[in-house]
Amino acid sequence: MKTDIAIIGAGPAGMLLAHLLAQEGISAVVLERRDRAYVEARVRAGVLEQVTVDLLRRLGLNARMERDGLVHGGTNLALDGELFHIDLAALTGGRHVVVYGQQEVMKDLFDAAPARGVEIVWNAEDVALHGLDGDEPIVTWTAQGEAKQLACRFVAGCDGFHGVSRAAIPATVLRQFERVYPFGWLGILADVPPADEELVYANHERGFALASMRSPTRSRYYVQCGLEEKLEDWPDERFWDELCLRLGPQLAGKVTRGAAFEKSIAPLRSFVAEPMRWGRLFLAGDAAHIVPPTGAKGMNLAASDVTFLAEALVEFFKSGKAGGIEGYSARALARVWKAERFSWWFTSVTHRFPEMDGFSRRLQMAELDYIRQSEAAQRSLAENYVGLPLL
Ligand code: FAD
Ligand code: PHB
Repeated sequence: MKTDIAIIGAGPAGMLLAHLLAQEGISAVVLERRDRAYVEARVRAGVLEQVTVDLLRRLGLNARMERDGLVHGGTNLALDGELFHIDLAALTGGRHVVVYGQQEVMKDLFDAAPARGVEIVWNAEDVALHGLDGDEPIVTWTAQGEAKQLACRFVAGCDGFHGVSRAAIPATVLRQFERVYPFGWLGILADVPPADEELVYANHERGFALASMRSPTRSRYYVQCGLEEKLEDWPDERFWDELCLRLGPQLAGKVTRGAAFEKSIAPLRSFVAEPMRWGRLFLAGDAAHIVPPTGAKGMNLAASDVTFLAEALVEFFKSGKAGGIEGYSARALARVWKAERFSWWFTSVTHRFPEMDGFSRRLQMAELDYIRQSEAAQRSLAENYVGLPLL
């Protein structure tokens, strides 16, 4: 087998890149370790920035998003139960975010793949990358015990945080930067109407809570929890009680309880690997960086990375110029680090840290009070939240 670009991983980064390349007539094969049902069933991100919305429109994969996505022109913060509104649209010259689950994005990307010639190899085991520092890289894998290989011009490592691509960069070249947070998010999905029309990010003495949604009849809620906690510790009633307490009485009165049909705990991490290109290998999305979910940036960064990468590859294949390829890592990292900064900051002001004393708690309260009172502070939050421009 032979192709222009071997893409490792059929998550948002890999599939968006495959569609962008297909649109330009550049051939690609996506190698995915799991099957489609598994990838589609993973409950993850929920908020699309304008950049991601624009990308889905450009790919003509926006029909269901326009129909079912919820356009949000604002969001809310809460401090010890007291809510205040951030008018995202008014503060950013009319920009919005769209609530549309990652699972739905994946479904749209997979459904459109066959008709557009996007080839996906499911259940590719033991993927390994070879010859990345030469001109003819090769990717090998096994399919039902049979050895396979794919010759290509470039490899796009879109295989998430636990993938093999990042590890293919020599340790002498790779630099990794990390913050691990001393807590996680316990998230549930329930088929009940959301408590509010918009999201609510709540800082409470007992810890962070987030009220989000997937549709007018499906809610997504999170509470900050300890890393040692188990799902068995959190029967539905305990979850709803703790959520309501942290959101405060004003919003708790509007929370509809119901059976949680999905419940999971995710650890929080900030992580960046540099550079995002080595030889013929490019990293994109979670393979190169992780943000805590507070800023809702994970999937959106995957989308901006592959927008930059597709531009560079198209330039190379259409005009033979390598400038875009050479500049990819620096260009992507400049945006990544700003999202890292925002996600870290937003996590810092909204969560309860174990070592937190009265001084740090009062600084958090002062910071949130400052945001409530200052349009300048709100504007800074808003422009980051809706997504910084692609420079
Ligand atoms: P992924 O979505 O991880 O896709 C990588 C793909 O590569 C996967 O399909 C994987 O199976 C495949 N793969 C891995 N290894 C190999 C291999 N060796 N060979 C072949 N294929 C391989 N972001 C938010 O904004 N909000 C959230 O609420 C949120 N919740 C999250 C919860 C969890 C548990 C996780 C892990 C992430 C969450 N994120 C969230 C982040 C967001 O979902 C990710 O940033 C986004 O999925 C990144 O897309 P990606 O394509 O880079 O990586
Ligand atoms: C979600 O709906 O899953 C969600 C929304 C906003 C976030 C994180 C997750 O910041």
